[in-house]
Amino acid sequence: MTASSEADPETAAAAHRMIRGRRSIRRYRSEAVGRDVLDRLFLSAAAAPSAHNRQPWRYLVIGDGATKDALARAMGARLAADRGRDGDAPDVIARDVARSHTRITGAPVVILVCLTLEETDVYPDAARGKAEFLMAVQSTAMATQNLLLGAHAEGLATCWMCAPLFCTEAVREALDLPAGWQPQGLVTLGLAAAGGHDRPRKPLRAYVRYASEPGAGEIASKRANGSASDGLTAP
Ligand SMILES: Cc1cc2nc3c(=O)[nH]c(=O)nc-3n(C[C@H](O)[C@H](O)[C@H](O)COP(=O)(O)O)c2cc1C
Repeated sequence: MTASSEADPETAAAAHRMIRGRRSIRRYRSEAVGRDVLDRLFLSAAAAPSAHNRQPWRYLVIGDGATKDALARAMGARLAADRGRDGDAPDVIARDVARSHTRITGAPVVILVCLTLEETDVYPDAARGKAEFLMAVQSTAMATQNLLLGAHAEGLATCWMCAPLFCTEAVREALDLPAGWQPQGLVTLGLAAAGGHDRPRKPLRAYVRYASEPGAGEIASKRANGSASDGLTAP
């Protein structure tokens, strides 16, 4: 027997549309984002599930130009050193460092996404320790996706940047991070200066397999009756 949903089809469709409408935006207008909005985003982030409910995510909010510049320079120096060792051409490296600097300093708000293992379980063996670490990464990513979607719902644009993962010590020093905060990424946030691109997604069949065929259910028929032409069903 298939479970039935009590959700209003229009409400569900609006939620799906909101989720699917998020895009990574890399250019921002200069208007600041208010503390009240930011606090709402972090409360929604913290509504995410987390392993053992340990809530390992930590966020450092950077709004002032000097700190953004210091962070961008520290990360840029490390990027240039790494790319130099890779043998990349100096002008290509300089261009990429400058682009990264502009992205970071050009966003009204930059959020450093971190995790902490302070409250995770400790095991004597490496395998379970790694699983705990991965659960902290997963939990932090889930919270941060909530933040991205909350921002999108507020009419704000975001982009996740992975760069801090490649230079955690430089980030730690530039920002004088609390002990135990492990940098995972940066989120830039603000009003969009330009629209995003529709990045293609794989078709459903490429990433979902049903171990057995589910029956046609109440939820499916509600959707079909509610809004058959809303474009939300699989192609
Ligand atoms: C873990 C992770 C790391 C990412 N790192 C970067 C990055 O360093 N720079 C960037 O411009 N976008 C980055 N992105 C954004 C992806 O490029 C983007 O999500 C993807 O192309 C799909 O586009 P969309 O977000 O607009 O749907 C990252 C996204 C994730 C989830």
